[in-house]
Amino acid sequence: MKILVINGPNLNMLGIREPGIYGSENYNTLLEKISAYAEKNGVETCFFQSNYEGALVDKIQEAYGVFDGIVINPGAYTHTSIALLDAVKAVGIPTVEVHISDVSKREDFRQISYIRLGCIASVIGHGTDGYLEAIDILKERSENP
Ligand code: DQA
Repeated sequence: MKILVINGPNLNMLGIREPGIYGSENYNTLLEKISAYAEKNGVETCFFQSNYEGALVDKIQEAYGVFDGIVINPGAYTHTSIALLDAVKAVGIPTVEVHISDVSKREDFRQISYIRLGCIASVIGHGTDGYLEAIDILKERSENP
């Protein structure tokens, strides 16, 4: 099984940005953690991070016919981007939304998630372990469609 892990704006700043909210683990450590977990579970992973909405849309489109699942943390684009929602719907690849922080307990503007409407599940507020849970969800879904 091949899973594409997409991170949106400012997630490359993990470890530096608001550690009280997002923790002290940096982006490279996160990728190593996900890779190790995926490998142990027989899942192949590829990673992509961008601060640009169009680049994220392009990457989702390129995943068509290549990946069996997508894990996406769209960062702030979660709350604004219909284009990302349309992209995941267009490719029809099972997608799980992840948020490191518990957005449900934060500002009002974080209560809207457009991407959620195109996702099979959301993992919210479990720190970076949420990415591992998202892999479990996609794996389970591919084994029991
Ligand atoms: C985030 C939550 C978003 O509201 C925020 O804009 C982010 C990170 C999270 O992982 O908790 O950039 O997606």
